Amino acid sequence: NEIYLDGLSGVVPRFPMNFAELADRARAALPSSVWSYVAGGAGDEHTQRANVAAFERWGLVPRMFVGAAERDLSVELFGMRLSAPVFMAPVGVIGLCAQDGHGDLATARAAARTGVPMISSTLSVDPMEQVAAAFGDTPGLFQLYTPTDRELAASLVHRAERAGYRGIVVTLDSWVTGWRPRDLATANFPQLRGHCLANYTSDPVFLARLERTPEEDPGAAILLWTEIFGNPLTWSDLPWLRSLTDLPLIVKGIGHPEDVRRAKDAGVDGVYCSNHGGRQANGGLPALDSLPGVVEAADGMPVLFDSGIRSGADIVKAVALGASAVAVGRPYAYGLALGGADGIVHVLRSLLAEADLIMAVDGYPTLADLTPESLRRVV
Ligand code: FNR
Repeated sequence: NEIYLDGLSGVVPRFPMNFAELADRARAALPSSVWSYVAGGAGDEHTQRANVAAFERWGLVPRMFVGAAERDLSVELFGMRLSAPVFMAPVGVIGLCAQDGHGDLATARAAARTGVPMISSTLSVDPMEQVAAAFGDTPGLFQLYTPTDRELAASLVHRAERAGYRGIVVTLDSWVTGWRPRDLATANFPQLRGHCLANYTSDPVFLARLERTPEEDPGAAILLWTEIFGNPLTWSDLPWLRSLTDLPLIVKGIGHPEDVRRAKDAGVDGVYCSNHGGRQANGGLPALDSLPGVVEAADGMPVLFDSGIRSGADIVKAVALGASAVAVGRPYAYGLALGGADGIVHVLRSLLAEADLIMAVDGYPTLADLTPESLRRVV
């Protein structure tokens, strides 16, 4: 209504109303190396495309005479009351999508304005404390890339606790960077240029490992980062991770039901079904196809989902397949590239408005009304 009413006075939206145009305009707005890094994926990007296409294989069955004049999309999750089941996925390097280079802070401000929580990446341009300070009343989660240095891992988690983050998302599928032809072709990996290491260079444990400060010797800080960054965790590490914090612990990158059961037995609070937006391993299942098995194995434990969400319809379908909440990655990064916090707010509000209208038109007034029976397989 807001958009149509503005249209009566000749005002059309400043930002695109569909994902394809959003992506086109973000590509034009960003330096080509940043665009390749953000938009690109693993291999020939088949899995990345399949993540998106998977949503087209499901259709919502309409129900009439429901009188869904009021919808309630709110959800209680990890001790947080959210007005909608949507998060902003952790996007390392997001800082570089903003014209002033401080995209993490713009994202945090968009979280404050929309109530959509940000999952702040370990690889942020600004330190996690500054990011959290911009959340306003909206809760946020911290995403941990677990370094091989256990003392440093503990320090990062405890800083997140002190900064007021409401949970820790441990990403499991990226201890090594996948085969990314776009970045290989441009010999571009922003972290190796020293971007996005703010959480390390502001950490007392990391600094204690250096002979000279990062300002004096940036090369040594980057080298240390490459040495400690990737930790191929095993199940034997999970009790230690669990022992680091009483905050909700969520493991990201999960696709196999057996992994869900083992993680649950080890005391995690939630699993996050994702294939990293197809950025890490090509040739895998679309993440949406893994979701029903993950939900079944979770047996009531919360399940977050991402990879391929591009519209409000996709949010509704993922929730119907059992996701407790979803996250979006590239869509909000593109919004940021186009218009800073305003661009992100536009993208998030558009996603939420479309989800809400679909639930209104198709007669599903609450998230609990959305079940696998609400969907039919199209092909
Ligand atoms: C990511 N993702 C990611 N995940 C994570 O756990 N930590 C991180 O630092 C990053 N960094 C990152 C950078 C960029 C540029 C992108 C696009 C993605 C993965 C992200 O959290 C999420 O899983 C995917 O983006 C979801 O897929 P869509 O929504 O982009 O299709």
